[in-house]
Amino acid sequence: DKGNHRHFMEKEIHEQPEVIGHTLAHYLDFVGGKTKDIALPFDFAKLDRLYISACGTAYLAGSIAKYWFERYARLAVDIDIASEFRYREMPLSPNSAALFISQSGETADTLASLRYCRSAGVPIAAVVNVQESTIARESDAIFPTLAGPEIGVASTKAFTCQLSVLASLAIRAAVERGFVSPERERELVRELSETPRFASAALKLDRQIEKLARELAQVKHVLYLGRDTSFPLAMEGALKLKEISYIHAEGYAAGELKHGPIALIDESMPVIVIAPHDRIFDKTVSNMQEVAARGGKIILITDTEGARRATIDALETIILPTVPELIAPIVYAVPIQMLAYFTAVFMGTDVDQPRNLAKSVTVE
Ligand code: M6R
Repeated sequence: DKGNHRHFMEKEIHEQPEVIGHTLAHYLDFVGGKTKDIALPFDFAKLDRLYISACGTAYLAGSIAKYWFERYARLAVDIDIASEFRYREMPLSPNSAALFISQSGETADTLASLRYCRSAGVPIAAVVNVQESTIARESDAIFPTLAGPEIGVASTKAFTCQLSVLASLAIRAAVERGFVSPERERELVRELSETPRFASAALKLDRQIEKLARELAQVKHVLYLGRDTSFPLAMEGALKLKEISYIHAEGYAAGELKHGPIALIDESMPVIVIAPHDRIFDKTVSNMQEVAARGGKIILITDTEGARRATIDALETIILPTVPELIAPIVYAVPIQMLAYFTAVFMGTDVDQPRNLAKSVTVE
């Protein structure tokens, strides 16, 4: 049932504050300001490597989690696209664990990667939305996302719930590995607890985003740029736009611009820059200047401070609330999803059932 929404995707975008809240509450003790003790098939303190593999949007959630595990828990992460991992014959470290991420729990390549790790004797955990799935059954432990059924082929609430689980796990790993004091843990848990409120605030930007989408629906190509956790989010923005609006889009690390994609920039290709005001914001501003100098039109998704500091022409800004660094990718996912959604609506595509795509890819 779509309720009063036009599409399941729209409904699922709007459910996010609630389902993110449920998911976080499963892993975090908000009152005590602590991560909950979760049963694990391995000891975070003894790991020297974590292998994550997944497909599509779930792979991009894992790509964001890499920054979190490495930054907060000092745990090295190898992130792979499952269809590559399964055939790569990678040597797996004896002190490692593997983590698979899948909304459906049935993705063929992800399952094959899991079996590869199983045969290598590596402990296996999975972040899944469907708890009765094959991937869930074959894992030693599951970390559920409590997103509820996701009907739209384009993943939205499953993605932000995956991020919520992964951020909670990264903080838990940081605690167990001794890189986070009880005070810092309390602070990070409090930051995470605010995600639903910020996601709700982001949803209120829908009218502005809808207006922008009307223009986006006229173009042939779109480039998304970001640094740090905004880099995988840029790829997620591009994936979302191409799969439902059929507009060609690419996501790039902003620092890679001058290594090739800058050649594409002209007046006809909008560049969407995802840049909360963080410690590398100024680096992203210089990339925006490079785009503007070549006549490129920029859509900047940032916060108040970022908007104040980015003094560039041809700029349209979407201003989000100022949020802690840890939760920024979860909050910034919301305008990215809405932009793709409204663009597809203007294009008149079948938003919930885009051509050539299946919700669950059970063949390779
Ligand atoms: O069910 P899974 O999470 O394993 O699915 C993985 C991808 O097929 C999926 O995320 C796909 O990329 C989505 N259509 C993206 O919106």
